[in-house]
Amino acid sequence: MSHLDGASQARIRTVVEDLEQVLLDFIRDHQITHAEYRTATDLIIDSVKSGEESLLFDVFCEAAATDVGNVGRQGSLEAIEGPFYLPGAPALSGPLNVMPQRDDEKGEPLLFHGIVVDTDGQPLGGVELDLWHADAEGLYSNIHPNIPDWNLRGRFTSEDDGSFRVLTILPPPYEIPKDGPTGTVLRALGRHFFRPAHLHVKLRHRDYAEMTSQLYFRGGEYLDADVANAVREGLVIELRTVDDPTEVAERGLDRPYVEARYDFVLAPTSQA
Ligand code: BEZ
Ligand code: FE
Repeated sequence: MSHLDGASQARIRTVVEDLEQVLLDFIRDHQITHAEYRTATDLIIDSVKSGEESLLFDVFCEAAATDVGNVGRQGSLEAIEGPFYLPGAPALSGPLNVMPQRDDEKGEPLLFHGIVVDTDGQPLGGVELDLWHADAEGLYSNIHPNIPDWNLRGRFTSEDDGSFRVLTILPPPYEIPKDGPTGTVLRALGRHFFRPAHLHVKLRHRDYAEMTSQLYFRGGEYLDADVANAVREGLVIELRTVDDPTEVAERGLDRPYVEARYDFVLAPTSQA
């Protein structure tokens, strides 16, 4: 099995030869020296070897690839996955799913809910939502140290009427890792390291195209200055504070919380 399985020979030739030409023109146009060339290849190699995975490319390029996929899409907008997704998160059980978290998990409670429909607006039950996000310190479990495995990562399923509800905490804006090669590049460019607060979610159903979304919160910091330049208007959702004691108690909670809604449209596999 190779990484290029599934791509046609014609596509590979067109894309790879064009990339080759772009890079060759770039080297000539900027009179890139051999030392500069080697610095760049070492930096890319180090970024992977030091455990940054796809961070470097996700910061600079992933949003553009996602934009291409969104042109003419029939389902909801897709968004960048980023480098911190891991398959195999714990399966939660509904109807109110509670994300895995520490007993003293910091952060304001967030009730995230909505419905999943098809492109005709018909509710879709049995859709798996695979949600992951940072904790109140802006850190991801299984990536950053001293956090229980799978904290704030969970999979749950939409109900027969397409609805889903999950209780978690509101993540903050966070700084991406800045002590490795990607940080070196951003620092040299004079850029900051912040991303606006967000939830990541993948949706899956056997009859529909899998999709990856990322949702931001209206009014949040860094919406206009995301280091990964990935915020798009259709991905920004409203937050409502619920502090009426009756409403809070009805949810089985003992303190005010914030609520956010987003409805997803899944497209059939052939027309994503
Ligand atoms: C993230 O959303 O987790 C992310 C995306 C791009 C670069 C770094 C982090
Ligand atoms: Fe993230």
